Amino acid sequence: MDVDSIREDFVVLQKEVNGKPIIYMDSACMSLKPLKVLEAINNYYMNFPSCAGRSNHTLSNQVEEERKKAREAIQKFIGADRSNEIIFTRNTTEGLNLVMSSLDFDEGDVILTTDREHNSNLIPCHMLAKSAGITHQVVKSGDDFTFDMDRFQQALSDKVKLVSFVYTSNLDGHTLPVKEIIKAAHDNGSMVMLDAAQAVPHHDVNVKKLDVDFLAFSGHKMLGPTGTGALYVKEELQGLLRPFMVGGETVEWSTYDDHKFLNPPERFEAGLQNYAGEIGFAAAARYISSVGKDNISWHEQKLTERLHEGLSSIKGVEIVGVQNPSLRGGITSFNVSGMGFHEVAMLLNENDNIMVRSGQHCVHSWFKAHEIEGSVRASLYLYNTEEEVDKMVSAIGEIAKLS
Ligand SMILES: Cc1ncc(COP(=O)(O)O)c(C=O)c1O
Repeated sequence: MDVDSIREDFVVLQKEVNGKPIIYMDSACMSLKPLKVLEAINNYYMNFPSCAGRSNHTLSNQVEEERKKAREAIQKFIGADRSNEIIFTRNTTEGLNLVMSSLDFDEGDVILTTDREHNSNLIPCHMLAKSAGITHQVVKSGDDFTFDMDRFQQALSDKVKLVSFVYTSNLDGHTLPVKEIIKAAHDNGSMVMLDAAQAVPHHDVNVKKLDVDFLAFSGHKMLGPTGTGALYVKEELQGLLRPFMVGGETVEWSTYDDHKFLNPPERFEAGLQNYAGEIGFAAAARYISSVGKDNISWHEQKLTERLHEGLSSIKGVEIVGVQNPSLRGGITSFNVSGMGFHEVAMLLNENDNIMVRSGQHCVHSWFKAHEIEGSVRASLYLYNTEEEVDKMVSAIGEIAKLS
């Protein structure tokens, strides 16, 4: 993987702020976008800025055709069997909400989550506990913060209708053993949904091999346009989902008092869609495939280990969550003792244009349970370099001296 030539594809990396290059380490929140994605978006707006499906003219037909290709590209990217298993969404949050709100839950049904869920997977469980009387049960991690398979097995009962787990944690980059989890859940008769927001952009995810039932992810975390995402729903389970949002594009016909829904995925894609976004999203998937998913995860791993080694040598730096860098993909969460996490992030930005996230990363529940106020999070991607990691280490070294 040639990082120098990859970096040339990202216009923003050619820019300088205050005479210094940008060092972007916030890709777990929002990734940068390569030229190919910008060109794909532009192509829509310049050449066929029309609607798909409704009209029968040349431009509209072109949108329909490009949209079909985009859906097939996303299908292929995650190894799904059929393109109708891909529902376009605005983001991971929408995909998770769609499933939680559309499945039929009875009072007493259990939804299992881990203790490190993003609010986008956690809050829908709170809502269902209130509205449908489900029981939300949390599987605690082990003492080393990794997934505890034994606790999970013990939590499985005939009441567990849905296991809804984060695949790769945005808190510390820990990836769960999802294949074993899915097998155990299915043996128990439970369905499985994965929050794959931090998985799909960073390592190979194949829904068929995993045999997962529902999988949600975002385009904007994988080099795609903002406000794009997809939800995979296994074809045989699509009938279990009630339409989430209804209206234009979801029905074959309507009368004053009745209607007939279209088949999935259209049934779940109400109103005019983000066509430019979907086309750009597909361009992002093709770009990642052309670089190679394994190359990307290997590169991130190498950088994380370098960052970990550097940070660990600085007095007062504490890594948050899983300690072993080989289990953390591209994410490193840490604190500098005696200094607030927001202050550290601000100093990194002001002194060296190093852009990281600070706070509780929408996993407030985990931070509260562990009585940690928050952390600085550096999240790396294919365009980051060893030199950038070294600059980060030396910047933190300077900051630690101030504390
Ligand atoms: C693990 C995880 N799940 C869900 C989300 C929500 O993603 P989005 O805001 O794209 O819906 C995020 C975003 O950071 C995430 O990291």
